Amino acid sequence: MTTPQAPLSQDELKTLVGQAALQYVVPGEIVGVGTGSTVNKFIDALASMKDQIKGAVSSSVASTERLKALGITVFDANTVESLSVYIDGADEIDGKGFMVKGGGAALTREKIVAAQAKQFVCIVDESKLVEALGNFPLPVEVIPMAAAQIARKFAAMGGTATIRMKDGQPLVTDNGQHILDVRGLRITDPLAFESEVNQWPGVVTVGVFAHQKASVCLMGTAAGVKTFTY
Ligand code: 5RP
Repeated sequence: MTTPQAPLSQDELKTLVGQAALQYVVPGEIVGVGTGSTVNKFIDALASMKDQIKGAVSSSVASTERLKALGITVFDANTVESLSVYIDGADEIDGKGFMVKGGGAALTREKIVAAQAKQFVCIVDESKLVEALGNFPLPVEVIPMAAAQIARKFAAMGGTATIRMKDGQPLVTDNGQHILDVRGLRITDPLAFESEVNQWPGVVTVGVFAHQKASVCLMGTAAGVKTFTY
């Protein structure tokens, strides 16, 4: 008699996709690296390939520290013209590869590194798959003096924006700015939404990744890693 296997935990699904992403890393090149708990699994797996790659461009101080601790060289984004691949997680991804990101407050650098890469490989567990973006509070990095003005603009769209706090103070990003988390939005046209919010004064980065959408998604599911291409 075989014992039924316990379903994989969310953490195990993250490990699975983190390891699966290694197949997209091009030997001899520099890889773009995102931020978050899923990417941490990828970084840990990447250590096994560290002698085969030149190094990484990182999207956050946290990822840089983890990469360096594992002996992986981190390059300044300004010294690298383009990357074959950028590997990162997401807070939500829809059926077209459009994403919401920024749960870890690293969205601005994530978008910059993603824009350098020919391919965005998104690694998620299946809890991140959505029909339409907007359930996860939308992160928006803002210049602090514009926060209230931007919050009013979201209110006019039906959203409620709050400043993300840490230890009783507004969280300060790696870029010295604040994050608004916007609840209550349903983003039916991610490309138009991203374009519109991007041009509001004081918005540094909106956490909708539609112009920098995923090219591939590796999704950890009960049935193993599923691959979606967009
Ligand atoms: C950080 C991000 C992350 O990719 C996103 O929050 C997903 O994180 P996790 O893998 O921990 O669920 O956008 O700014």
